Amino acid sequence: MRSAAIAALAAIGAVSAMPSSYASFKNALNRRADGPTDTQVLQYALTLENLEKRLYADALSQFDEAAFAAAGYPSWVRGRISQIAGHEADHVSLLSGALGNASVAECTYNFPYTDVKSFVGLTTLIENVGVSAYAGAAQYITDKDYLTVAAVILSTEARHQAWESAAIGNANPWGSAYDTPLGLDMVYTLASAFITSCPDSNAALPVKAYPTLTVGEGYALGSSATFTFDDPRNATNYVVFYEGLGSRAIQLDENDSATIPTDLQGIVYAVISTSSDPSAVADDNIVAGPAILDFPFNAWTANPAFSG
Ligand SMILES: *[C@@H]1O[C@H](CO)[C@@H](O)[C@H](O)[C@H]1NC(C)=O
Ligand SMILES: *[C@@H]1O[C@H](CO)[C@@H](O)[C@H](O)[C@H]1NC(C)=O
Ligand SMILES: *[C@@H]1O[C@H](CO)[C@@H](O)[C@H](O)[C@H]1NC(C)=O
Repeated sequence: MRSAAIAALAAIGAVSAMPSSYASFKNALNRRADGPTDTQVLQYALTLENLEKRLYADALSQFDEAAFAAAGYPSWVRGRISQIAGHEADHVSLLSGALGNASVAECTYNFPYTDVKSFVGLTTLIENVGVSAYAGAAQYITDKDYLTVAAVILSTEARHQAWESAAIGNANPWGSAYDTPLGLDMVYTLASAFITSCPDSNAALPVKAYPTLTVGEGYALGSSATFTFDDPRNATNYVVFYEGLGSRAIQLDENDSATIPTDLQGIVYAVISTSSDPSAVADDNIVAGPAILDFPFNAWTANPAFSG
């Protein structure tokens, strides 16, 4: 019965079309001369899980039930966060077990939260990045068993994120019909902002961090926003927005500003590239980023048209 169901799903997959916008997006994700090995993908995943485990564990040791109550949260919030912390510790154990002596150890981190509320906000963003990380790395996994394990970790991270957004934050738990896959270097750029240093004994990952990109405060749909980054090149730059399986490039003006599209929703990633074509965005033309943008929307908002 199980295999019949899987066969039926496979048949559906064989005939259904990919969203057209994904073709160009996928091209960008694929642009790596050197695909990582399964071991390297697991080390990359463990690097992220180590970070998440430490994020939750440190905050829980710092903020007791009284601190959560003082922040205005009902008592179940800390209880559920403790359960999530346990999941992250389990993910670390599982990946460490799979990697054996190729495991990567915890790094030291600098998490920018200052109180319970900013901790909860940070967890929501990091869980989103976790989902994007597994989605973007899935294509490199060759061992089907690891793929299944990655899939169930991904969906669990998505439940964490959805609960943190919706149940605690009373905000939209999703962006569009699709989560946003991100390339390894894009994810590592976001994660490395929180990593101070890692043990020398950790295997070097085949990833790099791009220069930091920040977006001016108060950015909004349909308004001009300023993008700040170090630019050693003298070329025309574009901000490329990624949401779901869609992507779109918009030229920056002389002040590094651009008008934000009106059809973005939820968590959106932006990079600066010298490529005007999202499908040609690659390592050698990414100037900075990604930055994470958040466009909350209420229950009466139509689903977005953004598709690239
Ligand atoms: C890691 O484990 C493998 C398999 O058990 C073994 O062959 C290898 O020598 C070990 N490497 C190190 C650096 O300990
Ligand atoms: C940048 O490029 C423009 C046009 O290509 C040129 O006029 C300008 O002198 C260049 N600036 C620098 C600092 O190289
Ligand atoms: C860039 O900023 C300058 C100084 O504020 C302003 O005069 C100019 O109009 C701006 N350029 C654009 C394209 O908005």
